[in-house]
Amino acid sequence: MKVEVVENYDEMSSRAADIVEAQILRNPRSVLGLATGSTPLGLYDKLAEGVRQRQLSYKQVKTINLDEYRGLNRSHPNSYHKFMNEHLFEHLDIDMRHTYLPDGQASSVEEECRRYEALIDRLGPIHLQILGLGTNGHIGFNEPGTPENSLTHCVELDESTRKNNARFFSSLEEVPTHAITMGIASILKSDKILLLASGKKKGEAVKRLLEKQPGEEFPASFLWKHEDVTLIVDREAYQLAE
Ligand code: F6R
Repeated sequence: MKVEVVENYDEMSSRAADIVEAQILRNPRSVLGLATGSTPLGLYDKLAEGVRQRQLSYKQVKTINLDEYRGLNRSHPNSYHKFMNEHLFEHLDIDMRHTYLPDGQASSVEEECRRYEALIDRLGPIHLQILGLGTNGHIGFNEPGTPENSLTHCVELDESTRKNNARFFSSLEEVPTHAITMGIASILKSDKILLLASGKKKGEAVKRLLEKQPGEEFPASFLWKHEDVTLIVDREAYQLAE
């Protein structure tokens, strides 16, 4: 794992945008793996800026998102479909038919998980996977206890994850209890992985990650098993690891 320590959130986002844009320029037909949450918002703004100011094109790019809440329909204000449309896709020239997220409302969750994993295999390997870091070490919605060989599956969200995400909902009760997520093995199939972490809140998680001890109790630690991971971390998030 290559670790790049940057000054702040803005620098983290710029550095990440440079890496994504270099990937698109190298291969205009790239397949990107995308995350939601607060961490990549700055990156997504910068990608949108790249389209507006430098005419970068995503016309041939395909995107595969990590996860979606179970039970929310695509147009629900808190669905990850909606999040991605608002924060990224609407600002790019991407063909919406080339953007993929799990269907949180699929009637058979098992079938949906199989379909999504097959999609990753068919479109992939993902050239560049973007990840945020959960305070409990989750990546995607792979909570502590998720095995290394897990593929796309339905998970019950940790209470801590639901509390962290409650800021996007009007109350904790509204936060779904389950989600469909790519598994650890699905994520590790990607060619390259870019993990982003910013702010004091992520300090403990970054410290633990940098202990380099892969294990189920801290899912992000499995990233040590991949040969091309870059962690971009800002000073505040890196503080405890120094
Ligand atoms: C989002 C996702 C999650 C987040 C993580 C960090 O698609 O899969 O793993 O990346 O919960 O969330 P933020 O960025 O809000 O701190």
